[in-house]
Amino acid sequence: MSKLKIGVIGAGSISEMHMQSYENNDFAELYAICDMNEERAHEKAKKYNASKVYYDYESLLADKVIDAVSICTWNNSHAEIAIAALDAGKHVLVEKPLCTTVADALKIEEAVKRSGKLLQVGFVRRYASNTEIIQKFVNQNHFGEIYYAKASCLRRLGNPGGWFSDKERSGGGPLIDLGVHVIDICWYLMGKPKVKSVSGNTYSKLGNRSNVKHLSFYQAADYDPDKNTVEDLANAIIRFENGASLMVDVSFTIHGKKDELTVQLYGDKGGFELEPELSIVTEQHDIILNATPQINNLSFDVVQAFQNEIDHFIAACKREKETLSPVEDGIEMMKILCAIYESSEKGTEIQFGQSVEV
Ligand SMILES: NC(=O)c1ccc[n+]([C@@H]2O[C@H](COP(=O)([O-])OP(=O)(O)OC[C@H]3O[C@@H](n4cnc5c(N)ncnc54)[C@H](O)[C@@H]3O)[C@@H](O)[C@H]2O)c1
Repeated sequence: MSKLKIGVIGAGSISEMHMQSYENNDFAELYAICDMNEERAHEKAKKYNASKVYYDYESLLADKVIDAVSICTWNNSHAEIAIAALDAGKHVLVEKPLCTTVADALKIEEAVKRSGKLLQVGFVRRYASNTEIIQKFVNQNHFGEIYYAKASCLRRLGNPGGWFSDKERSGGGPLIDLGVHVIDICWYLMGKPKVKSVSGNTYSKLGNRSNVKHLSFYQAADYDPDKNTVEDLANAIIRFENGASLMVDVSFTIHGKKDELTVQLYGDKGGFELEPELSIVTEQHDIILNATPQINNLSFDVVQAFQNEIDHFIAACKREKETLSPVEDGIEMMKILCAIYESSEKGTEIQFGQSVEV
């Protein structure tokens, strides 16, 4: 049986996860690599034995033998490339966030509909094994009605610089970069309730703190300390039509004692933590029980999660599975993220059902 020929557009940091996962998949051939940075494109093509190298995505999309693409470019190009890829008849796996505005998200959805092709949004945490495990408990109503979720992803010193801190290319700071992950995973495990209102705050108080010495942090491939136009902290409370709520805070930098990653969900029969590691809390016979699943990895295993995401994408391209992260979910996430920015800007709660600025 012939393998699906894959093109990867954007050959920076995260593309590595896509490429190695395609390489491990028996039904995929990593066929073409594209990056506007020619050296980077060649380096990755050599490493992964890709047959073709492109420097612009239009040329890659014109290559008729390519069945599907991964889009691993800066956020501001996701919509344009995804629409062009769908219109060129390719299946698409687009990195998170789907794009940077609700208007663009809706245009992508139109392209999915008119092309009949698959689009999977790279909400990689949905494919992680700890998510898959806890989902079984959720599906069996182990926690009852999940009415509250709380997520924090606070980096004390972690503005990656480069395009991440250039609002034009990223669409925003920690909210669109980190918040998208933790908001999405809570919303997904809550059963994707309809959003009723959003109230958010963003702060740009500390800058990128490139002055800090003797403490290293992740820097983007094209790090530039001179440019920073994104917020350094965002928080929000999101209300859902079913009465549930979600509280979130995320930062690129904050005067905190250490980095924090927590994802906690609470139901009327029990609760659980997904991060920092999987744990389950219930009550039985008037006794509170804290349970630790006996599994290989209690935390987010990034390599495994990407492999699962890519395997799922390939199976979905072959119409053997439904994607777990369709375009509609990408749109809902864009509505939430954009409403948080809008709420912060206006200093007021944003009600859904009314128009949300896009
Ligand atoms: N799922 C995750 O956990 C995760 C983690 C990191 C990044 N991401 C997402 O992946 C995307 C890329 O992030 P990164 O950290 O790899 O960035 P990066 O800067 O390391 O890589 C991006 C690459 O895309 C190239 N590029 C940008 N626009 C292009 C275009 N129009 N045509 C061709 N090449 C183009 C750049 O030259 C660069 O090499 C972002 O959308 C980011 O949000 C997801």
